[in-house]
Amino acid sequence: MSDSMRDSPGTSPEAISISFPDVSSAGDADFVAALVDIVQVAYSEAEEGIFVPGYQRTNSAEVARLIRDGQLAVACLKEGMKPVGCIMVRIISPDRGNFGMLALDAAHRGGGVGRQLVLFAEGSCRDKGCTVMHLELLVPTTFNHGSKERMQAWYMRMGYRIVQLAQFGQGYPALAPLLAGPTEYRIFEKALA
Ligand SMILES: CC(C)(COP(=O)(O)OP(=O)(O)OC[C@H]1O[C@@H](n2cnc3c(N)ncnc32)[C@H](O)[C@@H]1OP(=O)(O)O)[C@@H](O)C(=O)NCCC(=O)NCCS
Repeated sequence: MSDSMRDSPGTSPEAISISFPDVSSAGDADFVAALVDIVQVAYSEAEEGIFVPGYQRTNSAEVARLIRDGQLAVACLKEGMKPVGCIMVRIISPDRGNFGMLALDAAHRGGGVGRQLVLFAEGSCRDKGCTVMHLELLVPTTFNHGSKERMQAWYMRMGYRIVQLAQFGQGYPALAPLLAGPTEYRIFEKALA
């Protein structure tokens, strides 16, 4: 995110509604394509230099499956219900929730909607009985990645702490060969009060 965006107020959470879309949305090609585009654009910036050129963070089949499985919360503009962001939310063990694939259209960043998406994910997992929230951050070790540093500082401001350094290749064996260089796979957790 550029400093000029930081000066802009961004979109206020009051203008946005966040929910798990009805499973029928998985068959709405325009809705799915809009979300794929938001994630691709956000991650091409957020993971620049980490993966080999051409790497795609997601695709329409994955987004449709996540919607069908009730694992993708979507932020829509209340006016017109246009999708502008999303967050993947999963239960990974009886007491642990997890979020990932957090992305917001750049035109709507900086106003607190990203934080609302994280709070929504936490609330959803808390409602399902989770006591801990878990997230992963893939960080290159051979150069300073501004976007990852900013994300880590932001997660820590929201109460997340590093609990483990894991092997990215163990969790994602198919993706490991697509890494452009050495990385550290940081696992963060936060108690859900
Ligand atoms: C992550 C993302 C969804 C956050 O959305 P957002 O609307 O900017 O989020 P918010 O406005 O709620 O919060 C942004 C935070 O970054 C801070 N921030 C904004 N611009 C900044 C800048 N240029 N430098 C440093 N901090 C900045 C804000 O102060 C805010 O911190 P706070 O909540 O402690 O006040 C959005 O930036 C995005 O889509 N990024 C690309 C994808 C990505 O990085 N995903 C995560 C991969 S691990």
